[in-house]
Amino acid sequence: MKYEFPEGFWWGSAASGPQTEGVFEGDNKGDNIWDHWYREEPEKFFNQVGPEKTSYFYEKYKEDIQLMKETGHTTFRTSIQWSRLIPNGTGEVNQKAVAFYNDVIDELIANDIEPFINLYHFDMPMKLQEKGGWLDRETVDAYVEFAKICFELFGDRVKKWFTHNEPIVPVEGGYLYQFHYPNEVNMKKAVQVAYHEVLSSAKAIKVYHEMNLDGEIGIILNLTPSYPRDESNPEDVKAAQLADAFFNRSFLDPSVKGEFPTDLVDLLKEIDHLPVIEEGDLETIKNNTVDLLGVNYYQPRRIKAKESNEKLADGPMPDDYFDNYIKPDRKMNPYRGWEIYEKGVYDILTNLRENYGNIRCYISENGMGVEGEEDFVNEDGVIEDDYRIEFVEDHLTFMHQAIQEGSNVLGYHMWTCMDNWSWTNAYKNRYGFIAVDIENQGKRTVKKSGHWFKKVSDANGFD
Ligand code: BG6
Repeated sequence: MKYEFPEGFWWGSAASGPQTEGVFEGDNKGDNIWDHWYREEPEKFFNQVGPEKTSYFYEKYKEDIQLMKETGHTTFRTSIQWSRLIPNGTGEVNQKAVAFYNDVIDELIANDIEPFINLYHFDMPMKLQEKGGWLDRETVDAYVEFAKICFELFGDRVKKWFTHNEPIVPVEGGYLYQFHYPNEVNMKKAVQVAYHEVLSSAKAIKVYHEMNLDGEIGIILNLTPSYPRDESNPEDVKAAQLADAFFNRSFLDPSVKGEFPTDLVDLLKEIDHLPVIEEGDLETIKNNTVDLLGVNYYQPRRIKAKESNEKLADGPMPDDYFDNYIKPDRKMNPYRGWEIYEKGVYDILTNLRENYGNIRCYISENGMGVEGEEDFVNEDGVIEDDYRIEFVEDHLTFMHQAIQEGSNVLGYHMWTCMDNWSWTNAYKNRYGFIAVDIENQGKRTVKKSGHWFKKVSDANGFD
């Protein structure tokens, strides 16, 4: 069978500033929470490898953009590091950063690769974190100012903007499950942080639209479809709906519909965990929804009704309302320990079509993390990552089906282009089309999947 995608479909990959650029002494970058946390607690990071050892994009971006061409990219997403552009979070703009991001954007355009720019990818400037980060209402204003500066500097050439990448992750990592700084467990704070992120996104969208630039703005959400263990068991179904409210609809509904899901609001009210909301906020959120949506999809969430009384923390937690469930016959990524469920992408897109006005969207991240990829190197030094080709192809097949049924899907981005540094996991899981030899000045080698992707992009589909 031939899988053909709509004309002008976006093929490419996504990355982020903090995971690829490297720190580089002397370029005036300020610290963000990762630089700080690594200095404080290096043992929290896989093999104690910190954020200064990223994939050398800061110096190798021209070579990388050529490799993007070689691997069939027509589009590429990265993020502007807030602490590189504005080292203290507010105030002075770092001209070295302006020059760097201008060069990256110009080089992409000169090579017919459309730049997609994201503003926040987990990288709070440390100066703002010292005052509370997303907990502090003033961070919302600082972020909107940062966004405005980015639109002014780069908005003449960048036509696709995103306010946040996976905003639920700093909430989960920083305030619930301890894998981001400040590494706390406090649901009240988690809710306030989430609320401020939602508000900051709406405010940045408002500023962008008021500037009348020729482009569009959205948000990138990691959607994890929540499947009940047993569809015919109302308790399982209810538990799955609550997990969906906490982890998907908490951001999806305000971003696309301009309102928070009532089941989540009712629950938070019941346990006295509503955030502090100022006058006019809800109107701002209502009136400034996204033009398009990026969907990151890696794995589903399997849920069953609460069986144990075990508590994760002293106070309330989302996990008080459901238990995670391991489906016995699930297909697994044996290298990363995540379930592979390709149909999940179809279910997400169908839900967006049926319940979210068929919002214009694209798959903004999808990919397969592998530990120990060096075991797949052939005699020519190329990684034969057939598992990744199969993974991407299977997901594309389900995306194609959703498109055939009317879903408004504009493109596909793999996570990621070059192997990169992934927060506390550092270089544990490799995701790229292109291998990066960290010990050898970041030497790049295109993997088998990169060559395969070029063919798919050129043909705008596959057999
Ligand atoms: C995505 C994030 O959720 O997952 C990326 O947007 C991250 O920033 C990627 O690198 C892979 O994560 P991990 O933990 O498997 O390395």
